[in-house]
Amino acid sequence: MTANIALPARREQARCPEHPDQPIAHCGPCRSELIGRTNLDREHGMTDAADPDAAHNNLTRRRQIARNRWEALVDDEFATASLADFADVPREALAVVAVWNRGGDVVPWLRISGLTGTGKTHLMYAIGRAVVTGQRPVGEWIATTAPAMYAAMRPSAENPALARYRLQTTPLLLLDDVGVNKHTEWIEEVTHDVLDERYRRHLPVLMTTNLETADLKAAIGDRMTSRLRQRCLSIVLEGPDRRRPPTLEGLGLAALDLTVGAA
Ligand SMILES: Nc1ncnc2c1ncn2[C@@H]1O[C@H](COP(=O)(O)OP(=O)(O)O)[C@@H](O)[C@H]1O
Ligand SMILES: [Mg+2]
Ligand SMILES: [Zn+2]
Repeated sequence: MTANIALPARREQARCPEHPDQPIAHCGPCRSELIGRTNLDREHGMTDAADPDAAHNNLTRRRQIARNRWEALVDDEFATASLADFADVPREALAVVAVWNRGGDVVPWLRISGLTGTGKTHLMYAIGRAVVTGQRPVGEWIATTAPAMYAAMRPSAENPALARYRLQTTPLLLLDDVGVNKHTEWIEEVTHDVLDERYRRHLPVLMTTNLETADLKAAIGDRMTSRLRQRCLSIVLEGPDRRRPPTLEGLGLAALDLTVGAA
């Protein structure tokens, strides 16, 4: 269960809260509960209707495991980002979550654009969390940035073929800051390789970008932009930059003695 293609070492080693002898990124017991059980139920044709109480407990349990994994593996700044943080959640965001929860339909892709600091990354992770911990809990997902994705696929990387395969096949991909890399043939090619395969497999992508459509086209190429037009809902965030320069109060320095020459 690789959650992130380039986990900082600290997270790679983070312990499972329920099985402290296991790293949460690869916790065997959690893995079998989260993934194994779903598959077993399917194989044995167990339906929720057969035993609603057991199904409910099973779901509650799997949501808990999915939440543990999300909070342990997502960057601290966004680990608890929630749709509840938004005064009005864009309908497109709710649609992605609803379609995932319902199952059976092709989940739309989502592009969140807007200027720096408008909350794009926060919203993307809030949606990811709702999806992963919802009615169909997700054990395998990748949440990363476009630059980290390209770094993992560079020929000099540790295992570029594996990184590419995971990016192409993970059930849910969250990709932050698409378009910040300068356009090159290689960038266009690998972006296409990953996104086109996901498109064909009907696997969802949530992404953020600073770029307008025209600039995004220049960054990731024509072919991919036309794919996005077919599959991707769009949310444009407006409003002020939420990252304000710090104030003395904010830094807890308001009571500092500012007398020149004070020791
Ligand atoms: N709805 C929100 N509620 C609380 N904090 C938010 C919200 N949206 C954004 N933030 C915080 O504001 C900061 C900037 O948001 P971020 O999502 O990083 O912006 P962007 O990705 O558009 O540059 C982050 O620290 C983020 O966690
Ligand atoms: Mg961001
Ligand atoms: Zn565990």
